[in-house]
Amino acid sequence: MNLHLVILGAGKGSRMKSALPKVLHTLAHKPLLQHVVDTASQLKPVTTHVVVGHGAEQVMAQLEGQDISWAVQSEQLGTGHAVAQAIPSIPDDATVLILYGDVPLTERTSLEALLAKVEANSLALMTINLPDPSGYGRIVRNARGEVQRIVEEKDADPVQKQINEVNTGIMAVHAHHLKSWLPRLQSNNAQGEYYLTDIIAMAMDDGVTIAVGQPNHDWEVEGVNTLVQLEHLERIYQRNTAHKLMLSGVKILDVARFDLRGELQAGAGCEIDINCIIEGRVVLGDNVKIGANCVLKDCTIDSDTQLLPHCVLEQSEIGKQAIVGPYARLRPGTRLADKTKIGNFVETKKTYVGEGSKINHLSYVGDTTLGARVNIGAGTITCNYDGVNKYQTVLEDDVFVGSNTSLVAPVRAGEGATIGAGSVITKDIDANQLAVARGKQRNIDGWEKPKKV
Ligand code: UD1
Ligand code: CA
Repeated sequence: MNLHLVILGAGKGSRMKSALPKVLHTLAHKPLLQHVVDTASQLKPVTTHVVVGHGAEQVMAQLEGQDISWAVQSEQLGTGHAVAQAIPSIPDDATVLILYGDVPLTERTSLEALLAKVEANSLALMTINLPDPSGYGRIVRNARGEVQRIVEEKDADPVQKQINEVNTGIMAVHAHHLKSWLPRLQSNNAQGEYYLTDIIAMAMDDGVTIAVGQPNHDWEVEGVNTLVQLEHLERIYQRNTAHKLMLSGVKILDVARFDLRGELQAGAGCEIDINCIIEGRVVLGDNVKIGANCVLKDCTIDSDTQLLPHCVLEQSEIGKQAIVGPYARLRPGTRLADKTKIGNFVETKKTYVGEGSKINHLSYVGDTTLGARVNIGAGTITCNYDGVNKYQTVLEDDVFVGSNTSLVAPVRAGEGATIGAGSVITKDIDANQLAVARGKQRNIDGWEKPKKV
């Protein structure tokens, strides 16, 4: 099939009450229009045309670098007028699939089923039966049950308003038909617009058959007009995604409190507790347990590792059998080897933590390389920044850092070195040395306690 797509997205979306063009509002962190483009691209179209108008520059910039032909509709004169903007660059022998930039959850299989209904002298229309059809164009059928025309809500008479079968807007039509019908559209209707839906009556007159398809699920054809509808579709998307993950073996404790805003790949036996947000691309090995209220962005976590509650991780890699949290923050460039432990109120950045090393409490470790079995005491700070440049700290295998230590980088401690608690370390330490850098303790006899005056 010589398939060409036309995606409509020129509308302002005034009911969103937002300056952002409607099709750029995000669902699961991805613009609505991108959802449509991504699904549609699975159909392997020859070209994808997107009709933009309101905020055109912004929309085109957001989807820059993708294989899209942009058509700018400077005045929104109706859906028929919108499709007409893209038609000149589509060959006569094409099949044109018309989609909407604000209908994000349509599935490939429903679109394929619709396309399968298009024959040489027919077009295919996706309709749906709704208990409350208000707001939609109604499908008018004749006594033999054949589709005759579509009547928009605002043009419908009371009898037509009773019809429950409505137009989803999605249709597949031969380009040569569109080229003959679109120029003949009139705007003498209630909204003064060039309605795409009027081509149905023209098709009837020309003896073109109208095939009808229905989506697999109602939500596939629901559009976004308000932030309330956006939230509604977000939850449907999240529930669907969570169910897919659960059926592949990921235990999600509550689908209503799970949010995937990217891609999650997980091994066997993984568990995700409530209120976790997973962003970008996250890869989990086997038996990874993620505690409540964790946020993970672009991370890789190897098998048998546990994240305790309330951790925030970004661009970090964690090995096997590690334990992180509660309340840990791993910033970009953190790499934790196997069997490491990062405890509460610990922040790491651009840091490698060698196998079996521990940073258990209240520390900042940045621009640092830790060997194996290093122990970092509570309250250790790497002073990696002099206000202008960043410097490295290196602690080799088996280094022991006493609590409340400042490591003024650049600085290095050799294998097996020990640092006394409360030290401010400014000089390198050789292997196995003890470094103590703090005021000496004085115990004064006969000290008189101050008295109340
Ligand atoms: C349209 C259909 C209606 C259908 C409904 C399904 C028409 C005349 N009516 O109505 O039968 O039940 O969708 O949701 O087609 N757009 C443009 N340029 C324009 C006008 C619209 O790009 O000049 C885009 C909008 O951005 C939107 C889509 O087309 O993405 C639909 O337009 P909208 O005005 O919302 O049509 P409806 O009145 O909902
Ligand atoms: Ca609409």
